[in-house]
Amino acid sequence: MTKHVVLIGFMGTGKTSCGRTLATRLGCGLVDLDKYIETKEGRSIPEIFAAEGEPYFREKEREAVREVVQRKCAVIATGGGTVKDEENLRILKERGVLVCLTADVETILQRTERRGERPMLDKSEDRRKAVEELLESRRGIYSNADFTVDTSRRSPMQVADEIVDFLRVGGFIRA
Ligand code: S3P
Repeated sequence: MTKHVVLIGFMGTGKTSCGRTLATRLGCGLVDLDKYIETKEGRSIPEIFAAEGEPYFREKEREAVREVVQRKCAVIATGGGTVKDEENLRILKERGVLVCLTADVETILQRTERRGERPMLDKSEDRRKAVEELLESRRGIYSNADFTVDTSRRSPMQVADEIVDFLRVGGFIRA
């Protein structure tokens, strides 16, 4: 693999679960950006948001992006808001192939229904509205991907297969 494979996309599109399967298929490591931040900070993302607020989290996210791209090539699963930051987007695009995972609103709502895990959604009374509005505001940034896969009603294995085909055809991995 010549570059990192960077999974971007909204919450609940399967970046972590597909990333795990993809990394196994490619025989490389997986770096989950949220987990990386949690380990460094010694607390969970919801705890960071509650204690310090979103700007602090975004600062830690920016630091994490700069650190993880230095590593040996890996699959990098980003957080849903990582590429909102122009400099994060630029760095990740320069060092990686950007693959965007998408899912329909129904699927996103199902996969993110557990409270207490996603501060960006938990702060809203109307979850569907929060998802729809955030999705709409981020549509433009996700369109920066080199390749997009819809993960609704598909298994991580099916999604990983499709990404592997794309990487082969693009010459990012050997057949
Ligand atoms: C966020 C998505 C989360 C996490 C944080 C903020 C966002 O990651 O980084 O809660 O702004 O969309 P997932 O996309 O893995 O849920």
